[in-house]
Amino acid sequence: MPFLSDTLARVKPSPTIAVSNLAAELKAQGKDVIGLGAGEPDFDTPQNIKDAAKAAIDAGKTKYTAVDGIPELKQAICDKFQRDNGLTYTPAQVSVGTGGKQILYNALMATLNPGDEVIIPAPYWVSYPDMVLLAGGAPVIAEAGADTAYKLTPAALEAAITPKTKWFIFNSPSNPTGAGYTAEELKGLTDVLMRHPHVWVMSDDMYEHLVYDGFEFVTPAQIEPGLYDRTLTCNGVSKAYAMTGWRIGYAAGPEEIIKAMRKIQSQSTSNPSSVSQWAALEALTGPQDFLGPNNETFKRRRDLVVEMLNAAEGVTCPVPEGAFYVYPSIEGCMGKTTPGGVTIDSDEAFATALLEEKGVAVVFGGAFGLSPCFRVSYATSDENLKEACTRIQDFCASLT
Ligand SMILES: Cc1ncc(COP(=O)(O)O)c(C=O)c1O
Repeated sequence: MPFLSDTLARVKPSPTIAVSNLAAELKAQGKDVIGLGAGEPDFDTPQNIKDAAKAAIDAGKTKYTAVDGIPELKQAICDKFQRDNGLTYTPAQVSVGTGGKQILYNALMATLNPGDEVIIPAPYWVSYPDMVLLAGGAPVIAEAGADTAYKLTPAALEAAITPKTKWFIFNSPSNPTGAGYTAEELKGLTDVLMRHPHVWVMSDDMYEHLVYDGFEFVTPAQIEPGLYDRTLTCNGVSKAYAMTGWRIGYAAGPEEIIKAMRKIQSQSTSNPSSVSQWAALEALTGPQDFLGPNNETFKRRRDLVVEMLNAAEGVTCPVPEGAFYVYPSIEGCMGKTTPGGVTIDSDEAFATALLEEKGVAVVFGGAFGLSPCFRVSYATSDENLKEACTRIQDFCASLT
């Protein structure tokens, strides 16, 4: 009898974490490596949030809490949905978990039966397909390529829906492309969903606040109130509030699914960290004024990276609406050879050679389900970005 489970054999470890680990290893060996793989802001958590956490510790708020969140935080989340998205929820319709990741995982574990299909637009956040597999479902990948600015078309969504479809996972702005759907683009998708009442929508709004050039964020239940009763709107404090390590994510939706998610969480982790919940409360209710300057920094870096990557031979980089990623195509580099003698026959070969020959760590597109591309995270200093993009330009120019 094998010791490890069959479920484990279905999933692979996170390739983005693998890249970070490899870059860290090379750095530890004394190599000059610039990491563009990070999935987190390089800003510090705002001081008022840290202070709220310290105050919570001093006040002894260090014990178990309600499994899926303290009432104060649930109310603040309801207020946030009303304020930012025009969505009305009661605290009983809200779940708080250990990061956005646990929220999405709970929802899939609570709803998927063997054979249930989940539509995932590609390129996708690396964890979606593996979470679906862990929960016993079947990922159905729907391609959203560079020709449609990495956005799924209504026709592609329609084609992916079958009688077995349980969820459609929607992520805007997207990890890994930064693509954000306008209200009109999203309406095209929600119109399709209205014709298929058996399909539920899992909207991952993690990058809601990280948008540039006046882009207006929208979420499915807001654009189509007819979807309210079958939409789980997921969000968290990790990205906008630079709180990745605090591990607080949340979702709102019909009470039935919130209850089911609570049941899963009650038998796995119980409540998310009490101190982090009080910090998240401050994040959602305290001053939001740091978002503007942070976003200006991100926009400046995005523009810098897009311009420098487009100047690299064989690379084409669209301008994304949000998040802190760009997703250039390396179509023009395919089939060429590096000075080190490596043939670029995949984006994985490109990324590995770039790391080994030029010391720049990026994540290859295959990890996100759309090739030949790579993902750059620009959540690092301007100096690092300039140096890394110069090295990428040199690398591409050296290919023969
Ligand atoms: C699209 C997307 N959803 C969810 C998450 C998970 O966020 P958290 O750190 O809150 O678990 C991430 C983190 O990288 C993400 O990129």
